[in-house]
Amino acid sequence: MADHAFPPMASGGIPVFGHAFQFLRAPTALMERGYHEHGPVFSLKLANRRAVVLLGPENNRFFFSETDKLLSIRESYPFFIKMFHERFYIFAEFEEYLEQRAIILPRFQPQQMHQYVTTMANETFALMERLGESGTFDLIPTLGPLVMHIAAHAFLGDDFRQRLGKQFFADFRLFSGGMEAILPLWLPLPRLIRSQKAKRKLHKILGKLIEERRRSPVDPPDFLQTLIASHYSDGRPIDDVVIINMILLLVWAGHETTAGHISWGLIDLLQHPAYLQSVRDEQADILGDGRHLSMTEVRQLRRIEWTLKETERLHPVAFVMMRKAAETFTWQGFRIPQDAMVFVAPTLSHRMPEVFPDPDQYRPERFSPEHDESRQPHSLIGFGGGVHRCAGVHFAYLEMKIVLSLLLQQYDFTLLDSDPRPVSGAKTKWPTSPCRVQYRRRAYIPHKVPRHLSHAGEAQPVGSPAAHCPVPH
Ligand code: HEM
Repeated sequence: MADHAFPPMASGGIPVFGHAFQFLRAPTALMERGYHEHGPVFSLKLANRRAVVLLGPENNRFFFSETDKLLSIRESYPFFIKMFHERFYIFAEFEEYLEQRAIILPRFQPQQMHQYVTTMANETFALMERLGESGTFDLIPTLGPLVMHIAAHAFLGDDFRQRLGKQFFADFRLFSGGMEAILPLWLPLPRLIRSQKAKRKLHKILGKLIEERRRSPVDPPDFLQTLIASHYSDGRPIDDVVIINMILLLVWAGHETTAGHISWGLIDLLQHPAYLQSVRDEQADILGDGRHLSMTEVRQLRRIEWTLKETERLHPVAFVMMRKAAETFTWQGFRIPQDAMVFVAPTLSHRMPEVFPDPDQYRPERFSPEHDESRQPHSLIGFGGGVHRCAGVHFAYLEMKIVLSLLLQQYDFTLLDSDPRPVSGAKTKWPTSPCRVQYRRRAYIPHKVPRHLSHAGEAQPVGSPAAHCPVPH
């Protein structure tokens, strides 16, 4: 082991802090430099921590298959314990994590997805009812609340969406501000304090809801009702703290990411009108007047699926994933010491020409069955990989397909801010606001939006910039 050297360091670090400020400001540009200087394995210095960046399918495979073995996920996301609970999910003992995961996963299998179609479509129609005939909107502040409505509706039920939505959404926005991957969590940042306060309120709201549901179960049982009734494999019922944290986890893990991905999907299409036309042609063939959007039609919409995959490749919102070396090991001839941070970066791996030819070109057909450039395992990793691969990937793809398809069916859009850029810093990489589109109704698809959705509490835009910036303003 003594023969092996630490991976070469990217240039441009400054004394004491190394690359920390650059990582907080512009992580992609920094990692791009490291890659050009040293290839797919290199290192960074983030103040007193060393970080190793691994790129490309083989390194990605190692990263995902060694998670929970050589690489610890729980020690890499310490904010998770503050936002959730010390015995919850990735922070629980591994066996307990697997038990909790086994409760979540069956609800998100492809064969379960049909139950969410109506909710997703109804919420999108309710948004379009509010948008009306024509106007302009900013993508994230408009699509963020839509995604939040869909999650609350799908996981907490109709009654909750109607009665308690507004307060829940406001608190949830503050709760999300507790995500902090780089700065120490003991810093008295106002957003971290607000996140803890909001967490206490959310626990109270959800605790009360669970109590009501135990007293008067809804029939037929919805997502929440079945979650309340679930058991571990040894027959123990899951307790309320775990149920509350599961709900918070599902809404949290899915809202910023999905809103960002749909926004990039729409931007990509508007910037490539020929491909957009082919999506519209396919829609016209399959959806006709759009009155019956069921799982069968959604499955047939292949072109929108390829575009969403191309968007996953070009604009991965989860632009980096992190682990911590649980012990010293060697990989690719380099020595990785215990406690080093280890990163994979979809944002760079997805643009390696040996994996995706002409990587900077938007070409959704690369994901058609004839070409499928993602057939090499771990080449497309926007939703992670291995045991911790995104539990909500099928839900997210279904949601994105439905929202984008319905919006495109009803409206013509023009992109007003022509060269959208991802937000700066080490955050979920959605497009910087304002990123506005002008819209005009192209077809009116009659759809009966349930009355309560037209008037239900409106979610605030997810995460104000301050809520996401890891640096205090
Ligand atoms: C475009 C939307 C989404 C993206 C890009 C995304 C991305 C990811 C990624 C990259 C991970 C793995 C993190 C790691 O390995 O460190 C992950 C995990 C996870 N995601 Fe998603 N996600 C999305 C939507 C959703 C939705 C809608 C849900 C829930 C309904 C969800 C639930 C989860 C959960 C529970 C995990 C943890 C899995 C585990 O550790 O067992 N995600 N997601």
